[in-house]
Amino acid sequence: MLRTALLTAGRSESVRRLVEANPLTRPVVQRFVAAATPQEAAAATRRLREQGLHVTLDRLGEDTLDSGQAAETVAGYQEMLRLLASEGLAQHAEVSVKLSAVGQFLPADGEKIALDNARLICEAAQAAGTTVTLDMEDHTTVDSTLSILRDLRVDFPWVGAVLQAYLRRTEQDCRDLAGEGSRVRLCKGAYAEPASVAYQDKSEVDRSYVRCLKILMQGEGYPMVASHDPRLVAIAGELAARAGRGADDFEYQMLFGIRPDEQRRIAEEGGKLRVYVAYGDEWYGYFMRRLAERPANLAFFLRSLATR
Ligand code: FDA
Repeated sequence: MLRTALLTAGRSESVRRLVEANPLTRPVVQRFVAAATPQEAAAATRRLREQGLHVTLDRLGEDTLDSGQAAETVAGYQEMLRLLASEGLAQHAEVSVKLSAVGQFLPADGEKIALDNARLICEAAQAAGTTVTLDMEDHTTVDSTLSILRDLRVDFPWVGAVLQAYLRRTEQDCRDLAGEGSRVRLCKGAYAEPASVAYQDKSEVDRSYVRCLKILMQGEGYPMVASHDPRLVAIAGELAARAGRGADDFEYQMLFGIRPDEQRRIAEEGGKLRVYVAYGDEWYGYFMRRLAERPANLAFFLRSLATR
């Protein structure tokens, strides 16, 4: 109930204005949002690199209905990628892109505009010597996102995508994407989805995650295990070993600000760990999803507002 309420509020303009206007929100947001500018994001990347961690950078901004804003997002990614290359960080840092930030929801030709814009970001990533992964948003976007992925992979075979274990369709999507060269980031899923398309029970989502992991680990692609769940992290390690995968044949991924000690532990023990670093001013939707994932975050947020 609370999770659904927070996720619904995460898409409400009026609640957004209220939360953003409160100056006391910012320090809490900074736990999850590493930086405001590309320069600060590059500095955060360097600090994570010093701890042996890899990075994927997400320029915040989603659900745009303005083609100018979509173009600005593309320019922002191009700037970020140039910066990663010039600062020698591109070997260890890639970018993550939400297609709704580059035009997928535009009323006329949204899918084509998103494809063209994503292509520009892929060209910039190729020039920088790194990769792009497409985030997955709510279930109504999955077919469109996977179709754009297929088109992009014709010219940029290294483009990756996120699949969400809470969706009933995802096992089949894993089978379809387990081929050579594919890169799949498997997560549980962060949106409010109806029972007709998504498992509602946590244990069902976890079981689906393991089934999907098995398919990806036994496949020929590169699995990216995006979870902070200690049980699933341990199972991923076992499945990788059983499939004969070494430390370079798959990776773990976690969000900036969540279980940082565990992130360092995995890297220190020889695993590859990539941190998802969100940056920019459009933090509202991302922040609300982080609150929804863990009720304790909401309590912490409210307490910090009350004690300032
Ligand atoms: P679970 O929610 O069960 O959490 C396991 C443990 O992790 C918790 O007990 C707690 O200790 C810790 N934890 C998890 N979330 C926390 C939080 N917000 N604050 C504090 N502690 C927390 N989703 C999506 O729909 N589309 C996408 O494209 C992506 N992309 C993505 C990339 C990467 C790299 C990651 C790690 C995650 C995503 N997600 C996502 C989010 C994902 O779907 C999911 O909501 C979160 O990762 C939380 O799920 P866990 O697997 O961590 O398990």
